Amino acid sequence: MSDRTRFGVLVSGSGTNLQALIDASMTDGHPAEIAVVISNNEEAFGLERARQAGIPAVHIGHKGKERAVFDQELVDTLVAHGVEWVALAGFMRILTPTFLSAFHNRVINIHPALLPSFPGTHGQKQAFAAGVRITGATVHLVDSGTDTGPIVAQGAVPVLEADTEETLQQRILSLEHCLFPMVFRWAAEGRVSVTDGRASVDLPEGEQRFLWGA
Ligand code: GRF
Repeated sequence: MSDRTRFGVLVSGSGTNLQALIDASMTDGHPAEIAVVISNNEEAFGLERARQAGIPAVHIGHKGKERAVFDQELVDTLVAHGVEWVALAGFMRILTPTFLSAFHNRVINIHPALLPSFPGTHGQKQAFAAGVRITGATVHLVDSGTDTGPIVAQGAVPVLEADTEETLQQRILSLEHCLFPMVFRWAAEGRVSVTDGRASVDLPEGEQRFLWGA
């Protein structure tokens, strides 16, 4: 086994963020390796992206299962693949303590809004409806709340006069594809920690915990 940090990535949908992580992990000397991709949705294109990249792709259905049972199956599969860190890339299930205690402060999630504003589903849509002029994306560590865990990094984008929900969503998504790989690398390099409920990052020279998108 290589000495790269082994990540599991959980997806429910198209997996463009997964693709950004795959592409990053395949660059020369990258500190992370994606050991397995898991989806609760058999049809998720994210599973196909994993297969195309030669990464084990596993479907674990959640229907008709108690949350803790489903979560234990996730944990067992991740552990079987030697996973140390987990990235949620559009994973549409709430994780229980069964999962979170197995990967305490080692689960990152990407959310399409500037938390703590607009948690839950459709953060972009909520921001558009609220009429905010700046919004963005957040990468945070996952705790037992909904999008409440310690914030690691955020990126901001403007809301333009001509925007529709769709164009705003696209601008945020492009930003996500920079923000998530950035934190993915920091986590793999052992730079991310939590003290008193706040995340800190031992930042590489010249890097910041925020990005501006255009
Ligand atoms: C992204 O908007 C992400 O912020 C949210 O789910 C969406 C996933 O998109 N958590 P994709 O599957 O990565 O394209």
